[in-house]
Amino acid sequence: MKIVFATNNRNKLKEVQAIMPENIQLLSLKDINCTEDIPETRDTIEGNAIQKVEYIKTNYGYDCFADDTGLEVEALNGAPGVYSARFAGPQRSAIDNTIKLLKELEKKDNRTAQFKTVIALQLNGTCYTFTGICKGKITKSPKGEGGFGYDPVFKAIDYSQTFAEISLEEKNIIGHRGKAVKQLIDFLNKY
Ligand code: IMP
Repeated sequence: MKIVFATNNRNKLKEVQAIMPENIQLLSLKDINCTEDIPETRDTIEGNAIQKVEYIKTNYGYDCFADDTGLEVEALNGAPGVYSARFAGPQRSAIDNTIKLLKELEKKDNRTAQFKTVIALQLNGTCYTFTGICKGKITKSPKGEGGFGYDPVFKAIDYSQTFAEISLEEKNIIGHRGKAVKQLIDFLNKY
């Protein structure tokens, strides 16, 4: 079975391909000659994931799945949330976003946060969604070379290392995207 994963993010593609069963081959946006930025203008994580799959179906005719992820920080009333990619501005810089996050939390004791991924799947005329959550804390300074985005400042509950210090395999087991992808795989296997 071939299915389009509507992302341009190579890190995400790598993470998700690593846990897909061998009989499911992922096609990237590049594989379907989609090179433009897909609109993400809704005001919820779920809304953006759905918007992406609807865009691909309408403009390219492919059934596909897409994910949208946000980091929800308790002391910031759930921010940056759906705006995680553009937290520090439209340049979408992971480093700038992380610096801004640490600055906003500078004087806060409560560093509780969670990553939330929603995967939307467009299949044979119906749109399904799957949600994965990983709870943890924002550290005081970045640590680790792996992962991407906010990974160097996020520690999952009961973990002494940040997401940028643990292996891809481990991140996939405990992480938000891995949990949502597992639900997607279970669904596809039963479909
Ligand atoms: P999106 O899912 O690409 O819209 O991600 C929104 C923002 O969250 C971007 O700034 C990403 O870098 C960040 N992000 C998404 N997934 C992860 C992750 O697994 N770890 C750390 N940051 C992430």
